[in-house]
Amino acid sequence: MGEQVDKAQILVASNRGPVSFSVDDDGSLSFRRGGGGLVSGLSSVAAEIDTLWVCAALSDADRKAASSAPDGRLDRAGFDLGGARVRMLDIPEQTFANAYTSVANSTLWFVHHMLYDTPNKPLFDAAFRAEWEDYRAYNASFAEALVTGAAEGAKAAVQDYHLALVPRMMRGRRPDLRIAHFSHTPWAPPEYFGMLPADIGRELLEGMLGADHVGFLSRRWADAFLKCCETFLRADVNWDHRTVDHGGRIVRTGVHGLGADAEGLRERAEQEDVAERRATLRELVGGRRLVLRVDRTELSKNIVRGLAAYRELLRTRPEWRGRVTHLAFAYPSRGDVPEYRAYTESVRRIAEEINEEFATPEWTPLILEVNDDYPRSLASYQLADVLVVNPIRDGMNLVAKEGPVLSHDGCAVVLSTEAGAADDMGGAAVMVNPYDVSETAEALHTALSMPDDERRARCERLVEASVALPPQRWFTDQLRALG
Ligand code: F6P
Repeated sequence: MGEQVDKAQILVASNRGPVSFSVDDDGSLSFRRGGGGLVSGLSSVAAEIDTLWVCAALSDADRKAASSAPDGRLDRAGFDLGGARVRMLDIPEQTFANAYTSVANSTLWFVHHMLYDTPNKPLFDAAFRAEWEDYRAYNASFAEALVTGAAEGAKAAVQDYHLALVPRMMRGRRPDLRIAHFSHTPWAPPEYFGMLPADIGRELLEGMLGADHVGFLSRRWADAFLKCCETFLRADVNWDHRTVDHGGRIVRTGVHGLGADAEGLRERAEQEDVAERRATLRELVGGRRLVLRVDRTELSKNIVRGLAAYRELLRTRPEWRGRVTHLAFAYPSRGDVPEYRAYTESVRRIAEEINEEFATPEWTPLILEVNDDYPRSLASYQLADVLVVNPIRDGMNLVAKEGPVLSHDGCAVVLSTEAGAADDMGGAAVMVNPYDVSETAEALHTALSMPDDERRARCERLVEASVALPPQRWFTDQLRALG
């Protein structure tokens, strides 16, 4: 194969890649394909166009796999990615920890989700500046892999806050490329973004403006980005065309909503392991109404207030005691960030308190499960009467969309106004202010009391909204936006 044949026409870059590795007992490596919109979207185009996905090695097993592959390029066979090649970057451990855990997850994620407990954090000092250097180095590794892997005139879709500096780094070296940056998170309003040191805030914005097209999941997040460009770069924003004129270039912004992969989900939910979980859950719930939540244990998901609302429901509406079971799946996430460890503990604590207050020998009001079990999540979507999705802020939230798609008898969704999903589901969900625990408790009561006909009819509308923007379309829209 000649060198040019190896160059890709389409490139995707994201911190977390489409496959992850683990080491088996005999020392051999096995892999698991990840889920999510990007994986299904990319797989649909990769069958026809030579495609490369650049991601970071996230574990020792990933690093082992990356180092055993020539140039970090993993065998495309068997990944079920439509033939896309994967290049895993083996980034030095300390550089990765500073870039991913400290800058991306402990700082940028907190800014965009407005999560700071401001009397204590954030605090930008010399140590943070050193971590910022590593964030730059990590972004530079991605930019290098992309510019060396791209064919003449290729399109690159760079994903998320981890890689904000990549578009500008690429443009400097390969002006022939067409580059998109896409944010899966909300974007902070200027009043909050302005907490970042001025030079770092500018570097992030200018990094993204190295792209031709900057995409968001909701118009709200795109508006906030445009306002930040006006405020911190004094850039000329054309609000009619939603473009930014900066550094002699015009950059377009766009809104690309993301829906559930209905076909993939339904197919997966047909499998035997889901049916087995469904039978177990049925027995567990025992004919009671089922209130469900499915989240990573993530500060922005607002699990503690959600559980507090369930407690308030049981306190203020005693008629539900013994008649409802709340299943709360809170899967481990980002255990390297101290705030996440503390949050996991507070989720566990309130769950215990609720059971201490209300449990009877016949009834456990709340079942908290922390082990990730995907087929069990799918089975629980099928059975739920009420799905609670109450994030403080969320780029989109696919749980809100996937639940109704799999529901067997129509589920009501209690949904935060601050989730991107509220843009297209607001009319059929029961909406809540995520900080208002009493309102959320009342919304749970409304959802639980909804007549069957109304619940089913609303669920049909939720499904319509959920499947309107399948991941394949979301991904090809991003590419189309590049011309
Ligand atoms: O959707 C936002 C996002 O940060 C993705 O980029 C990421 O893959 C996902 O949430 C889960 O986070 P993490 O990869 O840090 O576990």
